[in-house]
Amino acid sequence: MAIILGIESSCDETAVAVIDGRGATLDRRIVAQRIASQDAAHRPYGGVVPEIAARAHVEVLAPMVAATLDDAGIALADCDAIAATAGPGLIGGVMVGLVTGKALAMAAGKPLIAVNHLEGHALSPRLADPALEYPYLLLLVSGGHCQLLEVRGLGHYRRLATTIDDALGEAFDKTAKILGLGYPGGPAVEALARSGDPRAVPLPRPLLGSDEPHFSFAGLKSAVLRAHQAGCHAPADIAASFQAAAIDCLVDRTRRALAVCGPVNALVIAGGVAANVALRGALELLAQSAGLPLVAPPRQLCTDNAAMIGWAGVERFAAGLTDPLDSAARPRWPLDAAAEPVRGAGVKA
Ligand code: KG4
Ligand code: ZN
Repeated sequence: MAIILGIESSCDETAVAVIDGRGATLDRRIVAQRIASQDAAHRPYGGVVPEIAARAHVEVLAPMVAATLDDAGIALADCDAIAATAGPGLIGGVMVGLVTGKALAMAAGKPLIAVNHLEGHALSPRLADPALEYPYLLLLVSGGHCQLLEVRGLGHYRRLATTIDDALGEAFDKTAKILGLGYPGGPAVEALARSGDPRAVPLPRPLLGSDEPHFSFAGLKSAVLRAHQAGCHAPADIAASFQAAAIDCLVDRTRRALAVCGPVNALVIAGGVAANVALRGALELLAQSAGLPLVAPPRQLCTDNAAMIGWAGVERFAAGLTDPLDSAARPRWPLDAAAEPVRGAGVKA
């Protein structure tokens, strides 16, 4: 087990972590981590502006690496490898982190590990819970993705479902925009939903009960817009009704996946939307009814961070999986390359 420097820069968080694979608990595994959010830079635009994101990563990343190594009380030479996100994501930002990782690897004479950001999310529950064994069913819900994956082992992913239109995080962010809650939207919608009535606004639940395995959120998003424009519902009721509809869809699709997947040790959630407390509660009930534990990483490990990238590096390094210094940055990089493309537009992987 190794000490790995992790770097994340695929969206609007710049993050660096030092992970010690020998640690028996989460506290010991994350030796140091720093994260700089770009929320303030993107807020005026109501979403992430790729060029602003890339420039902001350039400004903070190199000093952040030095500061994180300092926090950990180690030198670059003490790391066994450098793990950097190589995709999928906003390509300018990915390139900043990957090139920095390559330069550090070259300077220190250490191997590079080019990490798939989605693998970082997919393995983050194993960083948080050392007892979690493969295989498990993973619900990966983030700003760019909404997928159910059978995680059979490191690098072995079978996609059971994906979204045919919007990702769930995207639907939360659009709902926030419609309700004037600003950016980023997920936590704001969740907070407002707490004071609303989830049955107040009738909203559709796309694909609920369908034989098709996938997700769809575009119709729900449009219904939120219409409900808001009608002007007769309180924003808190719209937020609560939206969240309840989205959670109903997730639970239904996950129940279906549990029925068709191979034997699994746990139901696992990861990605930014997995920070949502109501969603975690609903999936806890589903897991109980399936006789499985629900494993959900602490909320700060659900949203983008470098600890999960460093941890994916730990697992890959232990398996002898390092990458050449000419590894490419990839805007798209599905975890299950064999999965059929689905109908619909705007699907990120
Ligand atoms: O994983 P992540 O940090 O970045 C991506 O890889 O996309 O996920 C970000 C997404 C955003 O859409 C954000 O609104 C959503 O996760 N999110 C939430 C919550 N916290 C973050 N959605 C619902 N409830 C939350 N508490
Ligand atoms: Zn992410």
